[in-house]
Amino acid sequence: MAIKNLVSSLLLAGSMVSAHPGHVEKVYQHSALPLERKSLSHCEQQFNDPEFVKRNVEFHAGEFARLRREAGYDLDQAPKLSPRDYISVSKINHKSNKAVSWNMDLKTLFSDYGACMLMPAVDQGPLYVQGEEIRKDIKENEPGIKMTLAVQVVDYKTCQVVPNAYVDIWSSNSTGIYTGVQGYPGMGDPKDAGILKLRAMRGVQPTDANGIASFDSLLPGHYDGRASHIHAIVYTGATKLPNNTITGGKAPHVGQIYFDQSLIAEIDKFKPYSTNKNRVVPNVNDFLFIQGANGDDPIVRYSLVGKSLDEGVFAWIRFGINQQKALNVNPAAWWTADGGKMNPKGPVGQMGGGGGWGGWGKRFLGKKEEEAKQEEEN
Ligand SMILES: *[C@@H]1O[C@H](CO)[C@@H](O)[C@H](O)[C@H]1NC(C)=O
Ligand SMILES: *[C@@H]1O[C@H](CO)[C@@H](O)[C@H](O)[C@H]1NC(C)=O
Repeated sequence: MAIKNLVSSLLLAGSMVSAHPGHVEKVYQHSALPLERKSLSHCEQQFNDPEFVKRNVEFHAGEFARLRREAGYDLDQAPKLSPRDYISVSKINHKSNKAVSWNMDLKTLFSDYGACMLMPAVDQGPLYVQGEEIRKDIKENEPGIKMTLAVQVVDYKTCQVVPNAYVDIWSSNSTGIYTGVQGYPGMGDPKDAGILKLRAMRGVQPTDANGIASFDSLLPGHYDGRASHIHAIVYTGATKLPNNTITGGKAPHVGQIYFDQSLIAEIDKFKPYSTNKNRVVPNVNDFLFIQGANGDDPIVRYSLVGKSLDEGVFAWIRFGINQQKALNVNPAAWWTADGGKMNPKGPVGQMGGGGGWGGWGKRFLGKKEEEAKQEEEN
């Protein structure tokens, strides 16, 4: 059915990218790990516990108030936001009719994480830089629409929040470029090592007592081949080093977060997003999105900070993780005191070295579309 067609069209679209005229290069094949076919519905009781809800609402309301203040709103006056839909999306491309107003019950707003919240683990992609610093603000003066993203981590078996974990996120900038990795097709001049000194849209935050890690970032720009998304790895048992980075521990969760299609369309009306010439890949055409949305809701809920989208958004999502798991992480590069260093055995290093495909793209390497499709069905 439709899913299969989408899978095959993605494989086609993803298998080759024309980086230079007349020259076709292979690029990293995104693949998805087997789905955790579990849901968090058994956690309803815990998630509806008044104390639990209260703590979450307090955290989110605090962040929201900070953003409102930074955007120049006088909180005492409690101005009404222009009535605005905020994201719903327990279903692909579905928008709730719930309007957000400043004086609405914040409990109503922030207690909604959607019906299905388990994030299946999908691949880390080719552009992960390991060893980024623990820092909340990862914008690095890049232009774009501000987005504060709060991620709550819960254990899907016990339904308890997971404090003292580290959430590591990375995404493209407003024009669809990932900084920090050299030589990936479409991501800057492959000969320019300067990109290794950049680390915008990358950073690590610890989860607090509520299991929440919160970042000040930007809404990502789109690029060809994928729906707009943010990558996230959750580390547990990691140690904080004196230089404000983490080491050790394990990665029970490697996932991706998406945005409502209508939000992506809105974003593109504002500069510099409007200058982004990359093709927009809709969520429903993205194989990894489909995997993520399978019995789950990988789209962030969000609320506008002010009257207009360009005043920023506050977004939130919950990850259900399997703490017993330790997923394989193979970074494209490492962040060091001297900036980024490429990993020769990483997904991009291997492309350059001609050594074939490493990591999690391997599954589809050299396979014809039909075979890959077959494998997907099996
Ligand atoms: C995105 O990053 C690239 C590479 O660092 C940079 O050239 C470009 O100016 C950035 N886009 C914006 C809008 O800053
Ligand atoms: C932080 O320290 C670790 C351990 O010495 C080192 O490997 C890493 O490169 C350092 N990172 C930065 C950004 O200084």
